[in-house]
Amino acid sequence: MIRTGVIGVGLMGSDHNTALKKLSEKKDIQVAAIADCRDGMLKKAAELWPEAALYPDAMELIQKEDLDAVHICLPSYLHAKAAAAAMEKGWNVLLEKPACLSEEECALLLETKKRTGVKVMVGQVLRFFPEYSFLKEAFDTGKYGALKGIVLQRLSQNVLWGFEDWFHDEKKSGSVVLDLHIHDADFVRFLLGEPEGIHVSATAYEDGMINQILTQYDYPGILVSAEGVWDITEKIPFSASFRAYFEEATVTFSGRETPSLRVWKKDGTVEEPQLAKAPILGGYYTEIEYFYDCLEKGVEPERASLEEGIRTVQLVLRELREAHRFLDRKSWAAKESSMSRRVVK
Ligand SMILES: NC(=O)c1ccc[n+]([C@@H]2O[C@H](COP(=O)([O-])OP(=O)(O)OC[C@H]3O[C@@H](n4cnc5c(N)ncnc54)[C@H](O)[C@@H]3O)[C@@H](O)[C@H]2O)c1
Repeated sequence: MIRTGVIGVGLMGSDHNTALKKLSEKKDIQVAAIADCRDGMLKKAAELWPEAALYPDAMELIQKEDLDAVHICLPSYLHAKAAAAAMEKGWNVLLEKPACLSEEECALLLETKKRTGVKVMVGQVLRFFPEYSFLKEAFDTGKYGALKGIVLQRLSQNVLWGFEDWFHDEKKSGSVVLDLHIHDADFVRFLLGEPEGIHVSATAYEDGMINQILTQYDYPGILVSAEGVWDITEKIPFSASFRAYFEEATVTFSGRETPSLRVWKKDGTVEEPQLAKAPILGGYYTEIEYFYDCLEKGVEPERASLEEGIRTVQLVLRELREAHRFLDRKSWAAKESSMSRRVVK
C-alpha cells in the first residue's frame, strides 16, 4: 500500500485527488492526508477519502504525517518550501508546475533532492498528453522527414479563480510566463533540447504584469515560436494548439476540435491518428499513473524529472526578464517619439 497525500485541493489539487481515486481501482494507493486552508475545499476533497486526516495548513501536514508520497498543488509561490520540507521527510514528491519561481528556489530543490535521494516529478503535463506524445514520436522517429518549423499557442481567459487572487501577483505566479506559457516552453525543450537563443515580445496588464508573451527560440534549421496569453476578458474559451511542419507532412493539434489531431500529408491525404485514451482527465491521469509506476518500479520519473522541470523554469525566467526589457524599451521609444512629435509641432 502506498500512503499518499494531497496538499492544496483548489482547481488542480481536486483533479489530482480525483485521478488518485480512479487510479486506486487498479493500484494499491490510498490518500491518507489532505491539506487546504479553505475548509470548504478540504471537506469536498475528503468526500472521496473519508478516512483521510485533514489539515488546514500545508506545513502542519508535512510536520505531523508519515507518508510515502505527496502531491503538492499549492499556489506556485508555496511550492519550493513545501516540496523541500516533504523531501526532508523522505517522501516522494509530485510537484505541480512551475517547480518554483526563482534561481534560489531552483538551487534549494536540486540540493535537497540530491541529499535526500527521494524521487521527485514535476507536473509538466504536456509530456503526457497523447497529441504532444504523437508529435514527439514523429520527431524522434523522423517518419515525416525533418522538422522545419513549429508554432505553439496557449490562450486562457483572465485567471480569476485563484486563492486570494494569487495569479495576479507576479511575485506569486510568475505571470502568464511561468504559469501558462511554461507548458509550451517545456514541450519545446522536451522536443528539441536547449535553444541557442530567445527573442521575446510581450504585452502587460495596466499594472505592468505580463499577460501575453511571444517567444521565438533559436534552433539550427527549425523555426520555433510559442505564444501564451492571459486575455483581458473573463470568458474567452481556453484554447491550446500547435502546427508542426515536417518535410513530408504537417501535424496540427487544436484542443477545441474533434478530432484534435490531424496529419496533412504532402500527397494530399489527411490522417486522423487514433490516440491512447486515459480513463479520466487525459494527460493529468496519465502523468499521475506514470509517477506511481516509477515508484513501484523504484526508478526515477525521467520523463518529467525535477531536473528537467528546473531547466524549464530557468528558461522561462530568462523569457520573463526579456519580456520586461521588451516593454521597458517600448515605453522609452513611445516617450521619445511623443517628445519628437512635440518638437515638430
Ligand atoms: N498542470 C496544469 O495544467 C495546471 C493547471 C492549473 C494549475 N496548475 C498549477 O497548480 C498549482 C495550483 O493552482 P490552482 O489553479 O489549483 O490554484 P488554486 O488557488 O485553485 O488552488 C490552490 C489551493 O491551495 C490552498 N492553499 C493556499 N495556501 C495554503 C496553505 N498554506 N496550506 C494549505 N492549503 C493552501 C488554497 O486554499 C487553494 O485551494 C499552481 O502551481 C498552478 O500553476 C497546473
